[in-house]
Amino acid sequence: MTDVKKLYIKTYGCQMNVYDSERMAEAMGGAGYVETQEPSEADMILLNTCHIREKAAEKVYSELGRFRALKVEKPDLKIGVAGCVAQAEGEEIMRRQPLVDLVVGPQSYHRLPEMEVRVRKGEKALDTDFPAEDKFDTLRHRPKAARGPTAFLTVQEGCDKFCAFCVVPYTRGAEVSRPAERVLEEARDLVARGVREITLLGQNVNAYHGAGVGGDWSLARLIWALSDIEGLERIRFTTSHPNDMQDDLIAAHGECAKLMPYLHLPVQSGSDRILKRMNRGHTADGYLRLIERIRSARPDILLSGDFIVGFPEETEADFQATLDLIEAVNYGYAFSFKYSTRPGTPAAERPQVDEAVKSERLQRLQALITRQQRAAQDAMVGRTVGVLFEKAGRLPGQMVGKSDYLHAVHVSDAGAHPGDLAQVEITGSGSNSLAGRIVAI
Ligand code: 5AD
Ligand code: SF4
Repeated sequence: MTDVKKLYIKTYGCQMNVYDSERMAEAMGGAGYVETQEPSEADMILLNTCHIREKAAEKVYSELGRFRALKVEKPDLKIGVAGCVAQAEGEEIMRRQPLVDLVVGPQSYHRLPEMEVRVRKGEKALDTDFPAEDKFDTLRHRPKAARGPTAFLTVQEGCDKFCAFCVVPYTRGAEVSRPAERVLEEARDLVARGVREITLLGQNVNAYHGAGVGGDWSLARLIWALSDIEGLERIRFTTSHPNDMQDDLIAAHGECAKLMPYLHLPVQSGSDRILKRMNRGHTADGYLRLIERIRSARPDILLSGDFIVGFPEETEADFQATLDLIEAVNYGYAFSFKYSTRPGTPAAERPQVDEAVKSERLQRLQALITRQQRAAQDAMVGRTVGVLFEKAGRLPGQMVGKSDYLHAVHVSDAGAHPGDLAQVEITGSGSNSLAGRIVAI
């Protein structure tokens, strides 16, 4: 029998990294590792990194520095860097930081167990290939551990859109969709272990075109097939590109009862001049017309978006156009970022907006978005919505879950359990969650 060793994984960035970390832990489970939440107990530490915005590599170096003392105390401790920073700067990390034993990119982490054997022998291991084999073929089955009621499931990876600011096409590679049957198999496996809500993940999830019965399937077709799985109650997906919002997907939002009324549809800017420079392939008006079509299929859908302020050459008028678009859409949720130059991307070479101007625009944009978020949350009071309970709250008898619209909801009624899907009457709206009363389970 192999000795049990402990693995500590720290995850940065997007939901796909959360999913990848789970899969890495599962792969290492096969090599005799159990997960720990405590770095000082670990035999191996993995940083699953994100490269999307500035100072990504600096953050990794400073985090690695914090593990130096641990490695002195415990010379057998192995330290690895995974994820998109590993992909982009792995060799340099290996050179600059002797603490690092292992570097693994997002497409090759199924090889972690073999790499572990090498680092245990005192070698260094680096793998940032885009291998011909699919990592999910190696990691076919999910271990049978008990799970919470929600799970992520990657169905598509990579991106061919090449927005001028974005590193994803370089770090995650070209767009690839998993075969539909593989996705369904993984979903059934998750549901058999208590999962009731699945969020389908992809950098361009609505460009999904996985091989299926009768040819390539669209994301809508996949969602309909998933909705036939008994015990799976809720389906979500993220992140989508406006140009891939096909008619069948819009229709599914109106017709598929298990598809939740929430859509993350980033637009980045409301100025056509900037959208063109960003290489987005759509206009502000095209986006607004798309939103109208989505809302006519599902009038109560809650929309969320991503915005970049201070993209190179953004003027006050361009920025104002973004605020106008936000006013016109009325978002339920939004994420906003100051533009940061990413090496190797086209926009990095262009005239940059002053940092102080970026900060001031970000504040104005966030003030508007906060008002909209607040209003969307407050408008839930008095409505009865579905809530999937996930865990106990901080107060005795309290349960916390997510509404159909992804708002956090807490109830004080005794008797609800994690995994219960209830109808809840919303009675109050707090700073970042709703309060409610169970009407029916
Ligand atoms: N600077 C700022 N924000 C960025 N994003 C992607 N690249 C950059 C960048 N260079 C944002 C986009 C994207 C989200 C995931 O991160 O808004 O939708
Ligand atoms: Fe990046 Fe644009 Fe692709 Fe999204 S669509 S991952 S922002 S290049």
